[in-house]
Amino acid sequence: MTDRYAVIGNPISHSKSPLIHRLFAEQTGQDISYEAIEAPLDGFGATIERLRAEGYKGCNVTVPFKLEAWKLANEHSSRSIDAEATNTLSFKDEKVYADNTDGAGLVRDIEINQRFKLNGKRILLIGAGGAAQGVLHPLLEASQAPLAIYNRTLEKAIKLQKTVTEHANFRHFSVKAAEFGALRNEQFDIVINATSTGLTGGDIPLPDSIFAPDALAYDMMYGRETPFMAFAREHGAQVADGLGMLVEQAAEAFFIWRGVRPDTRAVLNTLRP
Ligand code: ATR
Repeated sequence: MTDRYAVIGNPISHSKSPLIHRLFAEQTGQDISYEAIEAPLDGFGATIERLRAEGYKGCNVTVPFKLEAWKLANEHSSRSIDAEATNTLSFKDEKVYADNTDGAGLVRDIEINQRFKLNGKRILLIGAGGAAQGVLHPLLEASQAPLAIYNRTLEKAIKLQKTVTEHANFRHFSVKAAEFGALRNEQFDIVINATSTGLTGGDIPLPDSIFAPDALAYDMMYGRETPFMAFAREHGAQVADGLGMLVEQAAEAFFIWRGVRPDTRAVLNTLRP
């Protein structure tokens, strides 16, 4: 019998996840179905209950339900605890297991698809919302180097910084919440835009000198050139959007559910025009 999965969000019609998982299933010979489901903003819990009652094996969760899904789960992976959010739920033995594959997806995209080794690299993470929190700890594990968080609202960057400095496994990392003035005197090997400005169209003020030689500028958004990507191109950085992260986080979820790791390169080649 075909095992059923879905992605739940609101809105969800734009999601590429059903196509990505269909390509994974074809490639690996797994007998699964995967659909996009829009839950009402006040109906996420009821949607999960319905899926479980109908025998679904799991689901991905996207904006704006990642925190609510995390709270609803009975068991949590350590990476979902660090992120305080989940994008991957598994339904097994009357329980709901929460994991988070966003950080692993970003790290794999940077290191494998972009061929940019993170170890020892100085990272600037822009943003301090859910998207930034979801990738912060995996980035530190991969870089093992100092990291700065820069956010329009400094207090939120400080709050995010504390999730690292107060964490038993991470407190040895040097993480700071940077103000714009402090950035003028620093250069970074990788600058990651985890703000929602790619969607809202806002601009992020950055010093012209922010990119170290051969730096990578990574925007977690995909689908169009953002002002951040244009700025980075003008200043000589290598530029990547978030499509690879989307495919890699999906592959990690597929692996959790099916125990098989798809070839993401082939799927990325299909998706990129
Ligand atoms: P997400 O879960 O996608 O991270 P979020 O929690 O609402 O969404 O966080 C949005 C992030 O984008 C925040 O870091 C926000 O900055 P503030 O904390 O100052 O609100 C950032 N952001 C949104 N619009 C922005 C803009 N026009 N300029 C700069 N930063 C912006």
